[in-house]
Amino acid sequence: MAQLWGGRFTKETDKMVYLFNASISFDKRLYKQDIKGSKVHAQMLKKQGIISKEEETAILEGLDSILKDIEAGDIAITEEYEDIHSFVEANLIKRVGDPGKKLHTGRSRNDQVALDMRMYIRDEVTQTGELIIKLLETLLGLMENNIDTYMPGFTHLQKAQPVTLAHHLGAYFEMFKRDHLRLKDIYERMNYCPLGAGALAGTTYPLDREFVAKELGFYGATDNSMDSVSDRDYVIEFLAAACTIMMHLGRFCEEIIIWNSNEYKYIEIDDAYSTGSSIMPQKKNPDIAELIRGKCGRVYGALMSILTTMKGIPLAYNKDMQEDKELTFDAIDTVKGCISLFDGMIGTVRFNCENMANSALRGYSNATDAADYLVNKGVPFRDAHGIIGRLVLYCIDNNKAIHELELQEFKAICPVFEEDIYKAVSLEACVEKRLTKGAPGHEAMIKEIEKCREFIKEIRQEN
Ligand code: ARG
Repeated sequence: MAQLWGGRFTKETDKMVYLFNASISFDKRLYKQDIKGSKVHAQMLKKQGIISKEEETAILEGLDSILKDIEAGDIAITEEYEDIHSFVEANLIKRVGDPGKKLHTGRSRNDQVALDMRMYIRDEVTQTGELIIKLLETLLGLMENNIDTYMPGFTHLQKAQPVTLAHHLGAYFEMFKRDHLRLKDIYERMNYCPLGAGALAGTTYPLDREFVAKELGFYGATDNSMDSVSDRDYVIEFLAAACTIMMHLGRFCEEIIIWNSNEYKYIEIDDAYSTGSSIMPQKKNPDIAELIRGKCGRVYGALMSILTTMKGIPLAYNKDMQEDKELTFDAIDTVKGCISLFDGMIGTVRFNCENMANSALRGYSNATDAADYLVNKGVPFRDAHGIIGRLVLYCIDNNKAIHELELQEFKAICPVFEEDIYKAVSLEACVEKRLTKGAPGHEAMIKEIEKCREFIKEIRQEN
């Protein structure tokens, strides 16, 4: 048990208390951020005349050597230290002696952990955004290839009106596009540096907070010092964004599972993304899609957990806030893993275009277009709706699709029908006539796809 704060105590901490209080088993993940932040803090102390050039050099060299040894596996981050901050500082003192003892001047673990966590989450926001762009690129490629792949669009999971695969995938493109923009917003709001807030009330040393902020890639230093050490909004915002991504993936996975079922056969998931059954030899299960769908629960849980932890905390830092880490780290690993896996899975799916088109035709998804056909011939819409309702009933009784009826069968239900009804209820006509902005018609879709392409291009240029 190596602690930074033994002076005031006359007794050793109880072993269980020590373990309960310690965070090193999980905050060791922050070693890079901790070392980077410490280096810039030391440079700033030197610049402000608080430590000497020699002390600065010793500290920087010491910190670099610790980083190198951690990455080479030459030193292990062990439970002997309470947290990553104690680990780095104690090791520094071991290596460089007295100058190491000056590193913590004008700093508290409260602003230190606030900095480490902010830098860590900031990187994860960027990396998650990058994975989302890759997924958007995969979706765009699929959309480009499937502008004329007809399929039923559903409401209530009942076939509703024909759409195209490009159009259906385009809906997910929009969702993930918003996810990307959400991450960008979070980055903009969180990219301010809390170091220099001290324990809660700033410090009496002449620190240059703006220097530290700039060196660490922040837009500037945070304002109120009490807020700086106790703000975890960015963790909450990131987890909320992660939950929304998981919700989108979960919806998409649900469709993949349905489409991959024996009943639908719209798609076949690649062998590399499927699993078998230990007992039923015929099975090829969509486990990956199911797991991604299932993991929504654990990411939502992380958000609920941090919201609940933060809800009653008085200003400023309280130890409750150490609970911001474990579930957040788990949620980050989960969401990143799920985006990558989903990207690989959707990119290798085989679409059974014929089955999709047949399913649209057989499911009366062209019934609205049959009604519109009558409306165009002067029948009021409400009457047309009733006539097509009866027509569909007739089709069901006779086990036929609308386009399979003879002209006299059409005419028996309504004399207005002519030979051109066949063209009017073809999938091509049903889809191609839908040319309003955002609709699945070929020309409308070409415009949408162009916008998607532009979106990706702009993001790529920004990054
Ligand atoms: N391990 C702590 C955390 O994660 C670091 C800050 C400790 N500060 C303190 N005053 N005990 O929040």
